[in-house]
Amino acid sequence: MPGKMVVTFGASNILWMVFAVSQAFKMEIFPEHRVVAQIGDVISLTCSTTGCESPSFSWRTQIDSPLNGKVRNEGTKSTLTMDPVSFNNEHAYVCTATCGSMKLEKGIQVEIYSFPKDPEMHLSGPLELKKPVTVTCLVPDVYPFDRLEINLLKGNDLLKSKEFLEPMDRKSLETKSLEATLIPDQEDIGKALVCRAKLNIEEIDFEPKERETTKKLQVYISPKNTVIFVNPYTRLQEGGSVTMTCSSEGLPAPQIFWSKKLDNGNLQLLSGNATLTLIAMRIEDSGIYVCEGVNQVGKNGTEVELIVEVAPRDTAILVSPSSILEEGSSVNMTCSSNGLPAPKILWSRQLNNGHLQPLSENSTLTLTSTKMEDSGIYVCEGINQAGISRKEVELIIQVAPKDIQLIAFPSESVKEGDTVIISCTCGNVPKTWIILKKKAETGDTVLKSRDGAYTIHKVQLEDAGVYECESKNEVGLQLRSLTLDVKGRENNKDYFSPELLVLYCASSLIIPAIGMIIYFARRANMKGSYSLVEAQKSKV
Ligand SMILES: *[C@@H]1O[C@H](CO)[C@@H](O)[C@H](O)[C@H]1NC(C)=O
Ligand SMILES: *[C@@H]1O[C@H](CO)[C@@H](O)[C@H](O)[C@H]1NC(C)=O
Ligand SMILES: *[C@@H]1O[C@H](CO)[C@@H](O)[C@H](O)[C@H]1NC(C)=O
Ligand SMILES: *[C@@H]1O[C@H](CO)[C@@H](O)[C@H](O)[C@H]1NC(C)=O
Repeated sequence: MPGKMVVTFGASNILWMVFAVSQAFKMEIFPEHRVVAQIGDVISLTCSTTGCESPSFSWRTQIDSPLNGKVRNEGTKSTLTMDPVSFNNEHAYVCTATCGSMKLEKGIQVEIYSFPKDPEMHLSGPLELKKPVTVTCLVPDVYPFDRLEINLLKGNDLLKSKEFLEPMDRKSLETKSLEATLIPDQEDIGKALVCRAKLNIEEIDFEPKERETTKKLQVYISPKNTVIFVNPYTRLQEGGSVTMTCSSEGLPAPQIFWSKKLDNGNLQLLSGNATLTLIAMRIEDSGIYVCEGVNQVGKNGTEVELIVEVAPRDTAILVSPSSILEEGSSVNMTCSSNGLPAPKILWSRQLNNGHLQPLSENSTLTLTSTKMEDSGIYVCEGINQAGISRKEVELIIQVAPKDIQLIAFPSESVKEGDTVIISCTCGNVPKTWIILKKKAETGDTVLKSRDGAYTIHKVQLEDAGVYECESKNEVGLQLRSLTLDVKGRENNKDYFSPELLVLYCASSLIIPAIGMIIYFARRANMKGSYSLVEAQKSKV
């Protein structure tokens, strides 16, 4: 009501007085004209007067809405405090001071804003090379947001810019954000990601009008190329040791974990050290060992199989029914050997020169209808990467004596005084006893033979008769006989007493040869000289 300034209408004297006094009565307001306050702050408006001892004050807003502040009057001063400043303080405030009949007024505009914090930057996940990630730049509690501008920069490049020009339908604090997708590449490592927010209100003064947040681009690389180096080998002797070193590439450098795969597929953690040394390895330490490189963004693993090899041992042969057999029967020879990995079985036969002739890789070697030639030494070898273990068995095929030959040299019909050799050969059957006898009614005489040969020097008439060779072994017996006929020549009374001798049967080739040499030697003696060459020529 500006009209009230003139208190008394039409009385010029008094009017002058009023002016005189009013010139002395003065008012100031602080801050002047306008104040800018951030929501949540505390501000005070102060009205002070001079030239009046006890003025009275009143505050109002220009549109007569509530003050939303506390008034404190103190002598010549009045203070309106807004604590905290809110949307309801965005007004033009008027302070009125009255001194008696005098009245003074001053106004002040309160402007508000809100821009209290630096932007927040969020990434949807760790930055990995070539993997898109969403960057969110968020500006909290802004007023008025229609003046807000957000920029996202990578180094000096503007990635995205956004303004928020939609109408503000009510006064409120809003949080505004910008999103952008970033696919980091190698060059981005170490660059800065900047989120910059500006509140573009040129008309009023406040600081700061621009806020920013910077993040250094920490680019991660998921572990890859995990490799294991094994020293010395993945195949180990029992009791041996091995050192395995694992490496993995990634950013930041992956941490290494060693585990062993259990039977149920789970992993048993062994070490967090890149180098794993295993000593005194046992069979049960065989298995799959897993190395994993792990960092913030992933893991990558690889595995290695260790095999603890136990050299073959306890090689054993089981012969069924027996290692001594009769000709024609069958035999199974089964070989077993322990070791890891399970030894391979190799059956061989030992040849006369000591070499081995491989026969079979089956554990059971079966010989059906054996022959005498199958006799010999059979060798079983258990073989694996860690070694060889061998065992042998001697197989004896017994044959009944056969093909016995009983011969008289030079003939079964000789003259008295000749030398006669009676020779018994028993084929090729070893370990056969040979007994040479002369049959007589008074009883048989066993003759002292040498390798189955019995020599009669200067044969007598009474040497005539039936000679018998008996050949026998565990499996059988065979008999042969011949009749020696001695023709009389003259009376010759050389005496001979048979002696007893029993011998093993020898080679059928040697015995006739010996017999013949003796025979020809005898003939040669009679001629007075002897030559083996001559003797053999004369044989033809
Ligand atoms: C480990 O990384 C290599 C490439 O370096 C990859 O070929 C392999 O499949 C990965 N292994 C696992 C188990 O992730
Ligand atoms: C890994 O092993 C080496 C040698 O045995 C040792 O010096 C190192 O401290 C170990 N590191 C960890 C992380 O255990
Ligand atoms: C050898 O083994 C075979 C198969 O097991 C069997 O049929 C046969 O009777 C065996 N022979 C002997 C002599 O044990
Ligand atoms: C090994 O045994 C199998 C069957 O048991 C048989 O078929 C094969 O002929 C045998 N091999 C040898 C070399 O004996």
